[in-house]
Amino acid sequence: MNRRILLSFLFSCCLAFCFVQKVNSQNNYTKNDIPASHSNITADQNGNLILQVNGEQFAIPEIKADRTLEKLKGNPQATSTGIYFEFGEALSAGNLYFGLINYEDTQYPQPVFFRAPANILDGKSFVNLMLLKGRYDMVDWQKREKGVIGYRVANIEGEYLYEGKIGFSGTGPFAIDTTLIEGPFINLLQPNSVTISFDTNFPIIGLIEVNNKTYQSSESGTHHEIEITGLKPSTSYEYRLVYGGNEEKYSFRTAPVPGSREAFTFAYASDSRTGPGGGERSFFGANVYIMKKIMALAKYKESAFIQFTGDLITGYKNDPDEIRLEYANWKRSVEPHAHYMPVMTTIGNHESVMHYWGLPTGDFYAIDKFPYDQFSAEKLFAENFVMPVDDLDSEEGSIYDPSKKDNDFPSYRENVYSYIYDNIAMVVLNSNYWYSPSTSFVNITSGNIHGYVMDNQMNWLKKKIAELEENPDIDHVFVTIHTPFFPNGGHVNDDMWYGGNNDKRPYVKGKPVEKGIIERRDELLNILINESTKVATLLTGDEHNYCKTHITPETNIYPEGWDKEKLVRNRSIYQVNNGAAGAPYYAQEITPWTPYTSNFTTQNALVFFHVHGKKIRMEVLNPDTLDKVDELVLR
Ligand SMILES: [Fe+2]
Repeated sequence: MNRRILLSFLFSCCLAFCFVQKVNSQNNYTKNDIPASHSNITADQNGNLILQVNGEQFAIPEIKADRTLEKLKGNPQATSTGIYFEFGEALSAGNLYFGLINYEDTQYPQPVFFRAPANILDGKSFVNLMLLKGRYDMVDWQKREKGVIGYRVANIEGEYLYEGKIGFSGTGPFAIDTTLIEGPFINLLQPNSVTISFDTNFPIIGLIEVNNKTYQSSESGTHHEIEITGLKPSTSYEYRLVYGGNEEKYSFRTAPVPGSREAFTFAYASDSRTGPGGGERSFFGANVYIMKKIMALAKYKESAFIQFTGDLITGYKNDPDEIRLEYANWKRSVEPHAHYMPVMTTIGNHESVMHYWGLPTGDFYAIDKFPYDQFSAEKLFAENFVMPVDDLDSEEGSIYDPSKKDNDFPSYRENVYSYIYDNIAMVVLNSNYWYSPSTSFVNITSGNIHGYVMDNQMNWLKKKIAELEENPDIDHVFVTIHTPFFPNGGHVNDDMWYGGNNDKRPYVKGKPVEKGIIERRDELLNILINESTKVATLLTGDEHNYCKTHITPETNIYPEGWDKEKLVRNRSIYQVNNGAAGAPYYAQEITPWTPYTSNFTTQNALVFFHVHGKKIRMEVLNPDTLDKVDELVLR
């Protein structure tokens, strides 16, 4: 694929690039901000980042997005008769759909929308709460003198941009009440503990009551992560979350003691970024339609947790506040069921937050945004999710680390990790770490390419797999990573294959690393197959299909004329690809392993693993129609 097609492919259709050179805007970058791991990037005296290509210099100012989470929340203010919203330049005209949320007649509270929306005119809108009296008051707000509305912000073309929640008190005049605007989410589920996270509109100390014990936020704030301890394994607990003068009640079930070998089910999918088709499929940043169906089906099949590996959102943005909006929309789509069960996530290529340059030549250059501890894809992901922290820090200290400073690489914190549930372990990798979306130009900018696992992460995987091999409680290991080792449709020209081109590899400080993409794939495969007896399945995504590929000792995995050593494989594993959670589709393509690939479909899919002791049964259903897509006894 030529590099321009490759770039537009990777970037999707979500970016409006601008061509800028030699601008004189003011930014705040200094040379010290530029990681030594990059090349041909500097800062000018005005604080702009400068890219040097073939002796020419190009600069671009930071793009401040119009659509950000804070703007689309609309700064709700109470009046004598309702709630006033102001969206400013984020949205001049559109509709505000609103409705009361009943927290008592369902386990999964969501707004029940009123029969007509409020108009958004000149960036302003007003919800008249007096309309929600009498036969429209299904939450008794007039008697209780408080209530919560959900509100959905749509532009004049009917595209949904955000769905928020806001509480009010009084019967007129009204006041804005302390509101739980995001969550609660069940995180870090263990046999004896769990962490519950949520966000409030006002800074408060949140309280959670479990089993007659009260736990509270460590300090007053709007983001809360509260650890609940002293729990019994495999036990269901109700929890009561108290915020301001309000409360919500949900429940969770603790994980079994490792090695209990109880029967349980978990679900797997990835790739839920905005899809075509309009409506809820094209909610700003996410395919909310399919995600809601996935969550409901996962609950219906009594899943203990869901693993979701990358491309949650459309992403590829310069402004972190726009990424925050997309994450908020994705989290809202899973929220009703995520009050009860963990949704485990990591990064794909679309979670990218980046500096990018569009040159007059038509070429685009993009790299992970720095300073990494403030703006990188890795930082924004960690800010938005509560995932386990493992003992892998970054690529600092690797053979190609260019300086002793600790700002050369972003963090693996919360995007590479492992967890244990009963007798299985899930090892979560990140193949879009320190990702430069303009993969074809990493020789100029330096950076990692789509699909490549760098040295420190691979060494961590090797150590982790060896530990699990020795752990008597673990029978099965699942390894999940966004990019397939063996792409089948849509990403045959990248992922871990690049059309069979092993030249592809990251550059650090202007120099290519030693191993090419296919050699690195083989090193990873060697760990999963030859150094492990427990790795049952490789769970991948990125390609927006479901299919499974049987990697046997006989499967051809090399390009014609491969002149390097071929990996001898001593057993077989399946690669189960499920990027069918709503992103735009790709058809199947021919590869050396096509004869070993089966049940390829572009229908939406959710994969279930039913685990009971030594046995694993895989079942794949279409969450939209409940059609059976595939089934297999894995062990
Ligand atoms: Fe992807």
